[in-house]
Amino acid sequence: MENFSFYSPTKFVFGKDTESKCGSLVKEFGGSKVLIHYGGGSVVRSGLLDRVKASLTEAGVAFCELGGVTPNPRSGKVYEGIDLCRKENVDFILAVGGGSSIDSAKAIAMGVCYDGDFWDFYAGKARPKKALPVATVLTIAAAGSEGSGDSVITHENGMLKRGASGECIRPKFSVLNPALTQTLPAYQTACGATDIMAHVFERYFTNTTDVQTTDRLCEAVLLSMIEETPKVIKDPNDYQARANIMWAGMVAHNNIVGVGRDQDWNSHGIEHELSALYDCAHGAGLAVIMPAWMTYVVDHDVMRFAQVACRVWNCKMDFQNPKKTALEGIAAFRSFLKSIGMPTTFAELGAKESDIPYLVKTFGLGETGKTGGFVQLTSKDVENIYRLAL
Ligand code: NZQ
Ligand code: ZN
Repeated sequence: MENFSFYSPTKFVFGKDTESKCGSLVKEFGGSKVLIHYGGGSVVRSGLLDRVKASLTEAGVAFCELGGVTPNPRSGKVYEGIDLCRKENVDFILAVGGGSSIDSAKAIAMGVCYDGDFWDFYAGKARPKKALPVATVLTIAAAGSEGSGDSVITHENGMLKRGASGECIRPKFSVLNPALTQTLPAYQTACGATDIMAHVFERYFTNTTDVQTTDRLCEAVLLSMIEETPKVIKDPNDYQARANIMWAGMVAHNNIVGVGRDQDWNSHGIEHELSALYDCAHGAGLAVIMPAWMTYVVDHDVMRFAQVACRVWNCKMDFQNPKKTALEGIAAFRSFLKSIGMPTTFAELGAKESDIPYLVKTFGLGETGKTGGFVQLTSKDVENIYRLAL
């Protein structure tokens, strides 16, 4: 295991009706004028937005609002939010929604405290040092943004989808009421489940040795997702299964299962080009890319792939031919994704083979660059992975 420091100070308030605590929580963290930031209307239709407003009003906290965040959130909404926060003297941002609303809120929070263009943080030109405090009321278990110091935004100029990270954007508190996820369409639920599993796999595939504790934590989260996801696809109102998935989504991405080990993250980078170009759901893109990436890199550490095949996918170890076991595990992952309604090929996603050169170019490695924590990939490798996903 490698040295690490782990500091994840978000306060999680979990369970039924917890959104009624928003007002007192904002006060606890020093907010007096809140921007409520949300998406395309699900929180209006469900009545959640009204309940959040009522809680803020009851606590005597002033607020303004900005809705309309799209999935794969865009830079335009961030600029709008920064202007609004400055005009209204906002000192606290409350995202009500999924990863997209939360990531947009984080971008606004950084941008308000920065004299330059907020995109500098996403283009790698500056590192965020200061941000308005951000908090969340989560409505979909997926991105893990409710507990992470990360934000992913797409710039409309060139449709570049990029991430920024910083401790200053880790949420102060996150309200996690699993019942709020019961209105999700099955497809979005499955996209979220795929993303959660992908966050674990990005960490599981590592070159660091002697990481049994985090290996076993990763396996536990994967096993829970395999058990609970089909339950909510069958019965969207299964509160207990929703609760387990919601907590898994947080655990999968606040890095408790990834400390002390190198991590890969190439599947995410390769996927982000798909959701940038086709505006598909991030989880759906991962369902297409991650099994292809696994197949492409399996020879790098056959025994690690065989380990997850046996421990998570219940495959029988073939000691004469461990690669056979490893490939069975990858096939089991792909069948699971299909069983919950995910696409697993380019065509099912609406992606085109003819776009592959463009996707490789925007991935941005150039002729000689390499990236990845588990396996270092070149542009040619990235192209091969897109082709394997056809
Ligand atoms: O916009 P509304 O109307 O709210 O509808 C949303 C949206 O259409 C809908 N939805 C959310 N909760 C609902 C609901 N519909 C009915 N009932 C509910 N309770 O679901 C759709 C997807 O929402 P979105 O916020 O886009 O989903 P998700 O949480 O999957 O976020 C995806 C974004 O997060 C990024 C992804 O790249 C993508 O842009 N990621 C962020 C990460 C981070 N910040 O740490 C890490 C991830 O790897 C990921 O890259
Ligand atoms: Zn993800």
